[in-house]
Amino acid sequence: MKWLITGAGGMLGTDLRSELTLRGEPVVALSRSDLDITDARLVSAAVNEHAPDVIVNCAAYTKVDLAESDEAAANAINGSAVELLATAANEAGALLVQVSTDFVFDGAKREPYDIDDATGPLSVYGRSKLLGEVAARHAEQHLIVRTSWLFGVHGPNFVEAIRNQIRKGVDSLRVVDDQRGRPTYTPHLARAIVRLVMQGARGVVHYADADECSWYDFACAIAPGFTIRPVSSDEFPRPAKRPAYSVLSTDRYEQLTGATPDSWREGLREYLSLRA
Ligand SMILES: NC(=O)c1ccc[n+]([C@@H]2O[C@H](COP(=O)([O-])OP(=O)(O)OC[C@H]3O[C@@H](n4cnc5c(N)ncnc54)[C@H](OP(=O)(O)O)[C@@H]3O)[C@@H](O)[C@H]2O)c1
Repeated sequence: MKWLITGAGGMLGTDLRSELTLRGEPVVALSRSDLDITDARLVSAAVNEHAPDVIVNCAAYTKVDLAESDEAAANAINGSAVELLATAANEAGALLVQVSTDFVFDGAKREPYDIDDATGPLSVYGRSKLLGEVAARHAEQHLIVRTSWLFGVHGPNFVEAIRNQIRKGVDSLRVVDDQRGRPTYTPHLARAIVRLVMQGARGVVHYADADECSWYDFACAIAPGFTIRPVSSDEFPRPAKRPAYSVLSTDRYEQLTGATPDSWREGLREYLSLRA
């Protein structure tokens, strides 16, 4: 099976490329400088040239707060460009895997979000990613993998943000305790995506590491022993509204693959050993 990764220079894209290389799968990994997915001519040419069986779109506009004042760019990259990938996938007879997000939900539920729960994004970023889901469905063969709270060694993330604050010499931190989700280590997600594709999964699937926690709980695991105070989101006004509860149910993933999600605590241990 031949794989093509777009956005291959990002946090997930880099780990997906490593996972596929480790498995000996033929993979073409195109970073933004190799392929701008908003350019219809380039997308079509790249897919024609490489004739992949699977296209995994790891490219995205991921700056959630910046997107609030940059809606056109977020929609172009997260929405319209996915339409181009779907068209190219259809021409090549390829499967399109679109990576999506817990931010397509409004966070009003108090139990894990199932794949067919109503969406209701609260932010420009969430809406743009939902446009991407709609576009991905135009691929005859598509797999939409929603995930949450990513961290990995190849990109900026919450773990590094906490460690950077501590490196600056602050003597305590305040972290929000009223948003709950499932942190996910990108090598675990990369493995899950490969597993799903190998199993022939189609439609929408949620993958997130086990178990759910708040950002405060996550911060305490990142920096045990450091003084961290739980605070409410009101104390941290940010341009983009976040869902208060965005725990994804991974039932369908478990049914399809027979595997249980990996633990983010184990992922964190590996992360900290790699990025000491
Ligand atoms: N990070 C999270 O917490 C999180 C949570 C849930 C879901 N997701 C989703 O997971 C996926 C992977 O996220 P990530 O954290 O790995 O993101 P990331 O590290 O920001 O990687 C995204 C990559 O896409 C590239 N890109 C941006 N615009 C592009 C374009 N027009 N053409 C080609 N490449 C382009 C970026 O390049 P530049 O850096 O040069 O712009 C970057 O290398 C995304 O779909 C994201 O929406 C992320």
